[in-house]
Amino acid sequence: MTAIPVDRSPESTLAFLREGYRFIGDRCDRYGSEIFQTRLLLQRTICLRGRPAAVLFYDNDRFVRQGAMPMRGQRTLTGVTGVQGLDDAAHRQRKAMFMSIMTPSAIRQLGQLFDDEWRAQIPVWERSGPVVLYDEVARMLTRAVCAWAGVPLAGSDAARRTTQLHAMIEAPAAIGPRHWWGLLARRRAERWGADLVERVRAGALSTPDGSALRVIAEHRSDQGHLLPRRIAAVELLNIVRPTVAVDRFVVFAALALHDHPHWRDRVRGDEPATEHFVQEVRRYYPFFPVAAARVRRSFDWQGHHFPRGRRVLLDLYGTNHHPELWPGPEQFRPDRFAGWHGDPFGLVPQGGGNHFTGHRCAGEWITIELMKRAVTNLTTTMSYQVPPQDLALSLRRMPALPPSGFLIDAVRRTG
Ligand code: HEM
Repeated sequence: MTAIPVDRSPESTLAFLREGYRFIGDRCDRYGSEIFQTRLLLQRTICLRGRPAAVLFYDNDRFVRQGAMPMRGQRTLTGVTGVQGLDDAAHRQRKAMFMSIMTPSAIRQLGQLFDDEWRAQIPVWERSGPVVLYDEVARMLTRAVCAWAGVPLAGSDAARRTTQLHAMIEAPAAIGPRHWWGLLARRRAERWGADLVERVRAGALSTPDGSALRVIAEHRSDQGHLLPRRIAAVELLNIVRPTVAVDRFVVFAALALHDHPHWRDRVRGDEPATEHFVQEVRRYYPFFPVAAARVRRSFDWQGHHFPRGRRVLLDLYGTNHHPELWPGPEQFRPDRFAGWHGDPFGLVPQGGGNHFTGHRCAGEWITIELMKRAVTNLTTTMSYQVPPQDLALSLRRMPALPPSGFLIDAVRRTG
């Protein structure tokens, strides 16, 4: 048995929050090991990176999710008692509910709604001065996903709900006011969601068949029980919140087009090139730093001992930047995806493994669809200028975003 390298610091939570996306990768490089142990949030934690680690991490026989995500993340980002913390039959059943919503036609429909929002916004941008793409895309996504999910949204509510959803996304790795605002935003948003579920169940709000709100409100457990209102609200927010979070990937796509302008011509009217570009944006730019699990029962792996109950983190960012998987990982090269046949354990910005049986992101296909629509709009439907601004992306801030939010100016319709 080989001892797992142990990080010297007695408690690394502050270092993790300070160092951000490179926290695990830097230590792996320093120890010459794809595994090390540290203390995070006062608990011994094993950190892993790379493809073999991802294969291990997504083995349901080895790991559970119950109690894996720190409470500060549950109380802001994901909500307590949602699908993320379930295991075994309870997880499979709840996950099936999510995946039943993700049909190809439903995904296309959401893409179309986003497209319609984008095209309707162009004349507004033509008349206005510079706009912040991040804020604009967030509101368009809020309106599109609410319409798609069967959630009524008065015009004036879009900005308020978007602000709440952003606050939840910003909060888990934040200390002080940014964290407290996330707690408050979640409480308010869950009340909103619970009320919607209640109205659907009471027949006071009609929603289309197959819409997320309807599916969640009417979902029954194996024992035939409806979900408690608050849990149904958490799951509704598990659709709406991350869809709005695609705004970050859209900003990263705009940044990539700005930094690699020849890709504007490459993607225009070229579906495979657009797909490669979007995949490279998801691989290259930082979003979720890690995924968390706990050891189900003790086992040994590659000569290392994993004791029962130990928290384990998989470095998603580090795996997406692993030189053995991705030659020249710090170069932005969409062509690397030409002829790529998909590797469920290599490209893991939204988790790895199987969407149906594991914890891989339920909204990955939606994310790709929305990003493709955005790239097409940024390159084909309109032209714009990028005024001088602070676009420096810090890997120390989680979740990452260029400070300016990506300002665009002089927008003109072109298609
Ligand atoms: C904005 C881009 C997105 C990113 C970066 C992202 C990332 C992730 C990650 C890292 C996980 C956890 C994987 C794990 O625990 O192993 C996850 C899970 C999940 N995501 Fe996403 N996601 C995104 C968009 C979406 C969208 C659009 C939806 C729904 C419409 C969605 C719904 C979910 C759900 C329900 C889970 C829990 C799955 C489970 O526990 O079985 N996500 N996502």
